[in-house]
Amino acid sequence: MENLAFPPGFLWGVSTSAFQIEGATSADGRGPSVWDTFAPGQADVACDHYHRWPEDVALLTELGVGAYRFSFAWPRIQPTGSGAPNPKGLAFYDRLVDALCEAGIAPVATVYHWDTPQPIEDAGGWLNRDTAYRFAEYASVLGERFADRVRMWIPLNEPMVTTVFGYAIGEYAPGRTLLLDALPTAHHQHLAHGLAVQALRAAGASNIGTANHHCPVWPTSNASADHDAARWLDALLNRTFSDPVLLGTYPAEIVPYLPAGHADDLVNIAQPLDFYGVNYYEPHGAAAPGEGNPLPFELRPIEGFSRTTNDSPIVPAALHELLVGLRDRYGEKLPPVYLTENGASFDGIHDRERIDFLDAHLRSVATAITAGVEVRGYFVWSLIDNFEWSKGYAPRFGLVHVDYETQRRTLKDSFFWYRKLVRS
Ligand code: NOJ
Repeated sequence: MENLAFPPGFLWGVSTSAFQIEGATSADGRGPSVWDTFAPGQADVACDHYHRWPEDVALLTELGVGAYRFSFAWPRIQPTGSGAPNPKGLAFYDRLVDALCEAGIAPVATVYHWDTPQPIEDAGGWLNRDTAYRFAEYASVLGERFADRVRMWIPLNEPMVTTVFGYAIGEYAPGRTLLLDALPTAHHQHLAHGLAVQALRAAGASNIGTANHHCPVWPTSNASADHDAARWLDALLNRTFSDPVLLGTYPAEIVPYLPAGHADDLVNIAQPLDFYGVNYYEPHGAAAPGEGNPLPFELRPIEGFSRTTNDSPIVPAALHELLVGLRDRYGEKLPPVYLTENGASFDGIHDRERIDFLDAHLRSVATAITAGVEVRGYFVWSLIDNFEWSKGYAPRFGLVHVDYETQRRTLKDSFFWYRKLVRS
């Protein structure tokens, strides 16, 4: 990172999420979540962070980061998704948050990272408008308890992934395959976001933002049909999730699929935000739909780039394009940006590829800052190798290697590289 100046006060961090690292899925009154149903038993131990959190906080201290992004597990706080909070669930996060504060590491909390309590799903999950109100109650429980210590709040992680992977194509929990009929789940998550922002603020929380997945979408040719397809896919993957919260509008493409009366919710949804969190991994290609395709686009892999072990093309320039694109689209409506996730899966302790990946992506962030985008922080996904959802434990995203047989943590070369950068 020599020769690249990040602004004073730039926040360096790392991210994780509850279901991917905690394990202990039935400890201390935790209820089942959609992911326990979708991938039974697979994350019962995970990284055993529920018991080993002191060791993991020690890793953060050794890394020297200013902030740690984690998520609360809704089924630990409210085992059935509503009603009185579970004292043992709250106590676990008290211990974690207190330890972070004592270590001088700012706790950055995601309220929800995909682990919907199963009873909420049984009542319709994100297809049911009532889930937004249940979610706001849950957020308010957390606000009351943690507003004094949590430094930044993110109500929902990547609502796009829940809608598209969870409800449209069924690759993620809850495994529904509704295609465009999944779109009401986007609206109900937006409403949940807006209500949670208000509930958190009412409980005294400040510094509230997002962690939205963003991916540039590129047409596979210059043909106008491919351009139209790319615009549609960009609406679906990006603008459907950023326009409502930042502008209080939906892209026209999506409107026919939204619940009746959705426009009345937009004032609740477009709450002023203190920051805009972006998760970036890769761009996608789009082509015009072939015969028999019920969708207005076809998703195509981006060719011509080397790939991670998770088969993502490595395209750092797309991060610059994305950041500048957000600034150009939203202008003054775009709050200061944080990269709430960026990272890659590679094997081995001597992970030169991850260092190169992070270095190149940070250069792209730096050039976006020079181009006038206000980026205030960067969080690597992830502190430790963890449960990568439908891909299981094969993709390794950590700066720290986890031996899942022994739970031994080993620092990778990228850990030392990031530590040096953070300290400088
Ligand atoms: C984004 C998600 O928020 C996180 O849970 C996941 O592990 C990473 N992407 C890597 O795929």
